[in-house]
Amino acid sequence: MSTTRPMRVGIVGAGVMAEAMIAGLLANHAVTPDLLAASHPRRERREVLAERHGIRSVEANRDALGDAEIVVLAVKPQMLARVMRDLRGLLSPDQVVLSIVAGATIRTLVDGLGHDAVIRAMPNTPSQIRRGMTVWSPSSACTEHQRDMARAALRSLGEEREVADESFVAMATALSGTGPTYLFAVMEALIDAGVHLGFPRELAHDLVVATLVGSAEYAQQSDLHPAQLRNAVTSPGGTSAAAIYELEKGRIRTVFSDAVWAAHRRTLELGQRLEAEVDRSAGDPDGDGS
Ligand SMILES: NC(=O)c1ccc[n+]([C@@H]2O[C@H](COP(=O)([O-])OP(=O)(O)OC[C@H]3O[C@@H](n4cnc5c(N)ncnc54)[C@H](OP(=O)(O)O)[C@@H]3O)[C@@H](O)[C@H]2O)c1
Repeated sequence: MSTTRPMRVGIVGAGVMAEAMIAGLLANHAVTPDLLAASHPRRERREVLAERHGIRSVEANRDALGDAEIVVLAVKPQMLARVMRDLRGLLSPDQVVLSIVAGATIRTLVDGLGHDAVIRAMPNTPSQIRRGMTVWSPSSACTEHQRDMARAALRSLGEEREVADESFVAMATALSGTGPTYLFAVMEALIDAGVHLGFPRELAHDLVVATLVGSAEYAQQSDLHPAQLRNAVTSPGGTSAAAIYELEKGRIRTVFSDAVWAAHRRTLELGQRLEAEVDRSAGDPDGDGS
């Protein structure tokens, strides 16, 4: 991490992902509790956050901005236009906004907030145990220091990769962002297959999860491509060869490819819908439909 002093962080929409970031930031000493403010509309949630993490929790989103150097937007996509309308005009030029809202493009964020320094990021669910993968892209207005702060904030969730081309963030939404869904489905299918074979469900679960974790870590530590690792365990006339024949007959590669493309198309649709909402909002700044 190239930022050495703790950052001042404001979080808007302190739900599941935001809390993972709060815990990670505090554990990494990237921020101290007194320098972290998070907004949430519900009082019980604000009390939980303050009690668990010792941070300042506030009701109004605008109060989370304060003197924050980096403002994290972590609301659900359907709340984004409304939240950005509330924050519009309140950000100072030296503040940077880091959005993890699925589908929200840099253009949507810049137009919706009326602010140039924004970052679009896409984390994934393992962020909750700080083993996530986030792909992120800054707007051209972001300074080196602002990118360093974003990097430090995202490292609180696990690994991160900065990309210059924003379209890679949309692609990552389909690959690493949605990725845990594909792997949970694979786990589920293998556990069911184990039960079909005759294993008690709990034992099948433990065998499958340990095999996936071990294989993932092995692939990560190895210099070899997964195809080489697989070839190494595919003996002539053996069990792997018999199993792979069935996987290929079931179109496993094209099924995964179709799934990733479907998730990508959905990401782009979501992005277009959010852009249209922000455009409508710009024509109705009070949000009163007049
Ligand atoms: N979960 C993931 O693995 C994941 C991965 C990548 C990206 N993301 C993105 O991260 C964002 C947050 O996801 P999440 O899973 O953390 O969702 P979440 O737990 O629902 O967090 C959103 C929070 O915002 C609160 N909220 C509702 N209205 C608000 C308002 N007007 N102002 C401020 N806060 C408000 C919600 O309160 P209530 O609980 O009362 O509704 C909720 O606690 C989403 O945009 C999602 O696309 C999530």
